[in-house]
Order: sequence, then C-alpha cells, then structure tokens
Amino acid sequence: MSATPLLVAEHLMKRFPNGVQAVDDVSLTVHPGETVGIVGESGSGKSTTAKLVLRLLDADEGTIRFDGEDLRALRGGALRSLRKRLQLVPQNPQTSFNPKLTIGDSIAFNLTVHGTRSKPAHARAVELLERVGVARGHARKHPHELSGGQLQRCAIARALATEPQLVVCDEAVSALDKSVQAQVLNLLAELQRETGVAFLFISHDLAVVEHVADRVIVMYLGEVVEEGPAIDLWRAPAHEYTRTLLAATPERLLATRDAATAAAPAR
Ligand SMILES: Nc1ncnc2c1ncn2[C@@H]1O[C@H](COP(=O)(O)OP(=O)(O)OP(=O)(O)O)[C@@H](O)[C@H]1O
Ligand SMILES: [Mg+2]
Repeated sequence: MSATPLLVAEHLMKRFPNGVQAVDDVSLTVHPGETVGIVGESGSGKSTTAKLVLRLLDADEGTIRFDGEDLRALRGGALRSLRKRLQLVPQNPQTSFNPKLTIGDSIAFNLTVHGTRSKPAHARAVELLERVGVARGHARKHPHELSGGQLQRCAIARALATEPQLVVCDEAVSALDKSVQAQVLNLLAELQRETGVAFLFISHDLAVVEHVADRVIVMYLGEVVEEGPAIDLWRAPAHEYTRTLLAATPERLLATRDAATAAAPAR
C-alpha cells in the first residue's frame, strides 16, 4: 500500500441548524486502492461524514486533504475537476437516476459534464455497462425498467465512468437482497483490483462492511469510537458500542471466533 494517503480528513465537525451535532471530531484516512468501512447505527453520522468528504456539505471545522489538495478550499473549476476524481454510489438507485433519461444517457452525462463529447461518452457508457454485467441493450432503457440489482450495477458504472481515485459507497448494497448484495460486493472487489480505485464503504450492516473493508471505523453518536482492521475489532472490541454491534450479529461472532482460532497458530 502506498505510503501517501489519498484522503486525510482531520477533526471534522458538523452541527445542523436544529442543534444536532451530527459529526463530532471525526478523523479518517484512506490510502490509494484501499477499502475503508464506516459502520454505525442509524443516525450515527455516517452519511454526514460522507457528504463532508464529497463536499456536498461544508464542514464547520476540520481539514480534508484529497490527493494532497486542501479540499475545503477548492472552488469553481478546481472543485469540478475534483468531482471527477471523487464519486458516489448512493443508497437508492431508483431515486438517484433521472427517471426521464435512459440509463445510457445518465452514465454518459457523467462524462459530458466533464468535457467528453457525446458520442464517445455514450460508447463508453455501453462499455461500462457490459463491464458491470448489464447487457448493452439496457443503455436504451429507463430506470423503472431495471431491477434494483441491475440499477445498482448501473450506478457503479456511472461512478466509475470518470475513472475516480475514490468512490464513496453510502449504503450502496443495503436495499438489495442478500444474494444480489454478494454479487455486487464481488463486482466492487473485482473493479478495485482492475482499476486501483479506493472505496469509503458505509453501511449499518457489520457483515457487509467486514466482507469488503481492509480497515473499519466504528461511529457512534457522531464520533469515531473505534478503528482498525476488521478482524482485530471483532476479536477484541474495545468500545462498548462495538461489543453491542457484535452481540447483535451472532452468526458473525461465531464465524470470527472460528477464523481467529484457525489463524492463531500462524501468529
Ligand atoms: N440536513 C439535516 N438537518 C438536520 N439534521 C440532520 C440532517 N441530516 C442529518 N441530520 C441528523 O444528523 C444525525 C446524523 O445523520 P446521518 O444521516 O449522518 O446518519 P447515518 O449514520 O447516515 O444514519 P443512517 O444509517 O440512518 O443512514 C442524525 O441525528 C440526523 O437526524
Ligand atoms: Mg446514512
């Protein structure tokens, strides 16, 4: 793994006008090609953290460096160029695709908005669809004609269109059935191996995060309460909330205990 981090967020703070301190002194680092998971219960500040990192919301305090640049200071053209390198796969593809546009047009738009001409952008959209396992003919369909799993693959194709360095996946598989979830998670892992893209992978589901993440950040009431490689957290959770999360996932706990026992002699 590269020694130079891709994303370094330090001491982020965000309080909403209603007085909710959604993000309270959050720091996180993502290296190139790495998957960092954020796990935490509903309302713990995961999406707000994602929005701060994506510059969809402005932080009240803190610093965010992306590929060496001060992200909070970027404006105009520099911010647009950043959007190419930092993409989002949102939770609900049904609402994240414009219902009036075809899937091909939506994916191509993510390229034309950054200066690619229409024809090559559409050709690239079709290639990307095939890469994520969606038949090229679906480029001419509208979002309501596709299943949730197909649409989420399209959302991944749209995010990868700009060849980003980091993709934030905010509950990107939470709306999918377990079997479709596993297929999409495997696809993300394959695409990461091929392209070297890094993921900030957010989920309230511990099993999902553990499946994909090299390192996991546990959030609770806006704060990072624990951080480390998944196996270490599950083996010896330091924070009470992490223990509660584990206790609520008994299958996970047993599997981890077995894995830890099997791994022990090698250590
Ligand atoms: N625009 C907003 N205005 C006011 N409060 C907000 C806003 N967005 C989020 N909050 C509050 O901030 C806190 C953190 O919300 P956030 O959406 O970041 O949580 P989350 O961890 O992503 O939850 P979930 O798992 O349900 O998606 C919650 O208390 C939420 O109600
Ligand atoms: Mg959320």
